[in-house]
Amino acid sequence: MSNAPLKIGLGIIGFGTVGQGVWKHLAATRRNMEMRLGVKIELIGVCVRDPDKPRKVKIPRTQILTDPFALVQDPRVNIVCELMGGTTLARDITLHALRLGKSVISANKALICEHGMEIFAAVSQHGGQYFFEASVAGGIPVIKSLREGLVANCFSEIVGIINGTCNYLLSRMEKESLSYETALKDARRLGYVEADESLDLDGVDAYHKAVILAFLAHGKWVPRKNTLVEGIRNVTLEDIRRASDFGCKIKHLAVIHRDFSKGTMTLGVYPALIPLDSILARVDGVHNGISLTGDVVGTTTLVGRGAGQDATASAVIGDIVDAIRALKGAAFKFLTTEDLESYATLGSTARMATLEEILSRFYLRFSLRDKSGVSAEVYRILAEEGISVARVIQYEHAGTQRGTHTLSTYPVSEAAMERAVRKLRKLRSVLEPPLVLRILAPAS
Ligand code: NAP
Ligand code: HSE
Repeated sequence: MSNAPLKIGLGIIGFGTVGQGVWKHLAATRRNMEMRLGVKIELIGVCVRDPDKPRKVKIPRTQILTDPFALVQDPRVNIVCELMGGTTLARDITLHALRLGKSVISANKALICEHGMEIFAAVSQHGGQYFFEASVAGGIPVIKSLREGLVANCFSEIVGIINGTCNYLLSRMEKESLSYETALKDARRLGYVEADESLDLDGVDAYHKAVILAFLAHGKWVPRKNTLVEGIRNVTLEDIRRASDFGCKIKHLAVIHRDFSKGTMTLGVYPALIPLDSILARVDGVHNGISLTGDVVGTTTLVGRGAGQDATASAVIGDIVDAIRALKGAAFKFLTTEDLESYATLGSTARMATLEEILSRFYLRFSLRDKSGVSAEVYRILAEEGISVARVIQYEHAGTQRGTHTLSTYPVSEAAMERAVRKLRKLRSVLEPPLVLRILAPAS
């Protein structure tokens, strides 16, 4: 009998920011990993669109391929890292690999959000493995926390900063009074931004990640139509400054609420005002932070780098280690038939709350023509919708015959606020569409 260590063949589909990071760090720590795991790790090949593109991480040209299916089918490949992004070819490759019983590792939140149910079913059917720690919050092990360390809990609230790009932009705008465009250029250069950057800026990437967290916490795949999804494009430097007058900071948040007594659930991603002294208000730059409130543990907050080559590679390599342990016969399995049945049972007990049921405090910013009686019209509309104002701050703009009004409200339903804003937009004295942000106080 041979004592040679088990050979583990790796195929990396996508050798961009994340793919190169994975191989760079894995190559550096390979000896140590091999010793700890008792295996030999071999890079069989990487797959890209353009094999001649110059890349910072160098590998032999013969290992740079362009046919992902050929790489997946190579009998030497045990673990496929899908790090290309997208939801069509990536789906086909993932399912193909899983049907061959291979282990797949992914950072692709868009794919999991759209096709998670089908992918997870393929895992349990064909006995492969699927790990996706890098898909949410970069280097923070929040998925492992939900499926392992915090598994004893029912989560009433999960609030998180889960898009590194949005947090980076808002932080740099706030701290350096930098323009949105300049901050965005830096975020692109640093490898934080998605190939389709509207995914980051319009809140869709955070929605994809929130859907994954909601599934792991509540067993429910939440469709887009049942959610509030807003990005940061309308948040101005002025709003960031005004927020501090209300004792708050603006952060782009994902918010998942579960009311166990009513059987309802909400999922939203949007920029919101949070108190300056809250933990999440101090999570700046590319960092992400997630506060999970469970019935057993209370609130646990995880903070770390949420995007970029190194943080994401760290999560992917953690998954590679899990996959290798599973290949060596470790007892821990995830996404088994039993797992999926228990998620389905959990999910069936929650329904999405209606806009009438979702209550929040709000911040409103609007510009008014400087004329007597115009504020009264605004307050009449708010009163008609039962919206009670908590605090008002007005700013004049000398010589412009207009004033900026900012106010905070007491809790009111999303539906009432929507109706009020529709009416406000019709007022001739309101000079531009009002900006509406929610005000939250995340548990800590
Ligand atoms: P990227 O830099 O754009 O890299 C994508 C890679 O995929 C490139 O190497 C590209 O080839 C290859 N590729 C794309 N389409 C292909 C095709 N049809 N056939 C073969 N190869 C193809 O993207 P990334 O930032 O590394 O992101 C990869 C995945 O990780 C995405 O799902 C993203 O959402 C996720 N993610 C990214 C981060 C981050 O901070 N960047 C963090 C967490 C998760 P070429 O190089 O030849 O163009
Ligand atoms: N574009 C994503 C972000 C990458 O900025 O958070 C990490 O998922």
